[in-house]
Amino acid sequence: MSVHIDAKKGDIAETILLPGDPLRAKWIAETFLDNPTCYNKVRGMLGFTGSYKGQKVSVQGTGMGIPSISIYAHELISEFGVKNLIRVGSAGAIKKEVEMRDVIIAMSASSNSSLNRNRFKGGDFAPTASFKLFDKAVQTARKLAIPFKAGNVLSSDLFYTDDPKDHEMWAAFNVLCVEMEAAGLYSIASKHQVSALAILTISDSLITGEKTSAEERESTFNQMIKIALELGD
Ligand code: ADE
Repeated sequence: MSVHIDAKKGDIAETILLPGDPLRAKWIAETFLDNPTCYNKVRGMLGFTGSYKGQKVSVQGTGMGIPSISIYAHELISEFGVKNLIRVGSAGAIKKEVEMRDVIIAMSASSNSSLNRNRFKGGDFAPTASFKLFDKAVQTARKLAIPFKAGNVLSSDLFYTDDPKDHEMWAAFNVLCVEMEAAGLYSIASKHQVSALAILTISDSLITGEKTSAEERESTFNQMIKIALELGD
């Protein structure tokens, strides 16, 4: 057992899907995996292992924000030998070309978090996806005829910003959407020399104020999961 994950070595697969919401982890495991078993209930942050097309795969809730996903990513890699970490989550559109329900494959993740500035003593680290996973995700999306956009995303520390126009400066530099975890995941994966990727589905727009319904979120979420499940070695 690690500090936050009550599992034994070998209980968790080398490839893991990481939704923020632990109940989403349960839903993914029960909907897409064969013979899923729950390996973690600590703090309600459910984790499951099963198989997909005969390959062992795990799904673990991470909670919201860079600090929370950083804890789970660190323990999964250093205590359980996880090698491919794939965030599957929602994001808000900040560029007008990005539409509701779009699938976004995050090449890189900008951030307003001070975490990396502190870690690198004022230097700017560029949190970047694993090329191996990114390339495979692009090829899989094309093969499955799932439309997608790829580019830079914003990992924000704030869901409720003080200035509602904050996102405009990021959009002016071609950042596609805002979420809250990818920069943390990419940084921890880089530190440990393993592979990470974030695949996102647009659930709301900071430009138009639109929001998807719960049913719409479920059906569009499926496309992102189908891509993510094909990325194991
Ligand atoms: N995830 C989904 N929508 C979001 C938003 N508007 N801001 C931050 N994270 C999000």
